[in-house]
Amino acid sequence: MSNILCIGAGYVGGPTMAMIAKNCPKHQITVVDINKDRIDRWNSEELPIYEPGLLEIVKSVRGKNLFFQTDVAKEIANADIIFVSVNTPTKMFGEGAGKAADLQFWEKTARDILENCRKANVVVVEKSTLPVRTAEAMAKIFESGKSSTKFSVISNPEFLSEGTAIEDLTNPDRVLIGGEQDETGRKAAESVAELYAQWVPAERILLTNVWSSELSKLVANAMLAQRISSVNSISALCERTEADISEVSKAVGMDKRIGSQFLEASIGFGGSCFRKDILHLSYLCEYYGLPEVADYWASVVHINEWQIDRFFQTILHEQFDTLAGKVVSILGFAFKQNTGDTRDSPAIHLSEKLLCEQAKVKIHDPKALENAKIDLKGIKGDVIFQEDVYQALEDAHVIALVTQWDEYRELDYERIYRKMVKPAFVFDGRNHLDHDKLFQIGFNVFPIGRPPLRRI
Ligand code: NAD
Ligand code: UGA
Repeated sequence: MSNILCIGAGYVGGPTMAMIAKNCPKHQITVVDINKDRIDRWNSEELPIYEPGLLEIVKSVRGKNLFFQTDVAKEIANADIIFVSVNTPTKMFGEGAGKAADLQFWEKTARDILENCRKANVVVVEKSTLPVRTAEAMAKIFESGKSSTKFSVISNPEFLSEGTAIEDLTNPDRVLIGGEQDETGRKAAESVAELYAQWVPAERILLTNVWSSELSKLVANAMLAQRISSVNSISALCERTEADISEVSKAVGMDKRIGSQFLEASIGFGGSCFRKDILHLSYLCEYYGLPEVADYWASVVHINEWQIDRFFQTILHEQFDTLAGKVVSILGFAFKQNTGDTRDSPAIHLSEKLLCEQAKVKIHDPKALENAKIDLKGIKGDVIFQEDVYQALEDAHVIALVTQWDEYRELDYERIYRKMVKPAFVFDGRNHLDHDKLFQIGFNVFPIGRPPLRRI
């Protein structure tokens, strides 16, 4: 039996450790965090994150071989394998501000480990997404102390998507484990591989060197986001012509060399990672003297910002260039469906722009209102957070759909239309609703990448 510790009880630490606990009953898994409120919620019926299927798994192992604690130092002392899953946001100060990774939480964790570890051999696993060669920096910190512990640093990036985390963890496309290419490194990588081998087929467990593993994570996110920006750029061209982006995506995606996933045009991608990881990648390229490569990847983020702004500009323009005093109801605040996470959600940027125009913004989301209130806290303007979706849409001039929650498809749009100000407008940032039906009811409908259905 090994004592496995995870530092950081967030969107990655919580679900991944629950999955390891479920599949590795012989090991004891502890998740620690400096945020006591988060840990209290992991120990309750109201988990700190919403993720379909997660509560059931947590309840089946919590108190048996999965524990959530706040005493970081004590748990480090007992651990044989330490996963580090702390946040690695974009640095907002000094050198590389707005691009580079802010590694202060990561370095603090390394120093905590060095100070408190007591075992003879400890494997430290980078679970957080980190710039290339972070493991090397980590190893240097470990070597700098007087500890008698022998450390091995392994990279094991996580590829789960929020909203489908349990599915992704149960059946991953691959598990990537990067280790040093010497005997100790290989043994450490194998000890981590053994955990996953309890439920992941051997051919999907990929062992590489540390740097390839770190870089592959950034590149995977960059390439997924690049597909979205590519399709979003073409959505603008579709709106100027008679082409329909859904038909174009389908036709292009049927080429099996291209594939059909991540070709859905949208208001733009959000989430805590795409923007941050592409900016990290771009910064790394700059740092290594590759400005052309840096610009190439940075353009993926520029197109995304442009797409969110384009969505806003269409609303403004179609509202006769004035939004002052008009009610805009935002359907969905989460960055995607089936999560309450709003980090870098297009809804934040859209709300800010609408409030700048002095619109009255009403926001509905089935799971993300708590986070939405925090996101818009410091922003001046008239905002209402509404739990009842029909009340959120009453007296609205405009509906702006940002998140593709299933329930938005099932609403009674005839009832909604009756209670809205006329002419009534729907701007569908996800091409999620039945546009022909809405048009028949009387709405003016503005999809992404398709000609609008105008009544006026
Ligand atoms: P998160 O912010 O939800 O969780 C990080 C947690 O670490 C927080 O609860 C924070 O309090 C804790 N923490 C920070 N410093 C600490 C310290 N010194 N000691 C103990 N706890 C500390 O972040 P997340 O979304 O789980 O992401 C974690 C990492 O995983 C990031 O690098 C991210 O890029 C990567 N990642 C995230 C996802 C995702 O879907 N969210 C997917 C793959 C990879
Ligand atoms: C993404 C990756 O898919 C994961 O593999 C990765 O582990 C994770 O980032 C991470 O490193 O954090 P996530 O951000 O949770 O996962 O969700 P995605 O499903 O990738 O969606 C990201 C954004 O792109 C969402 O706003 C989504 O609505 C948008 N999107 C996605 C589109 O606009 N069009 C698409 O076709 C697909």
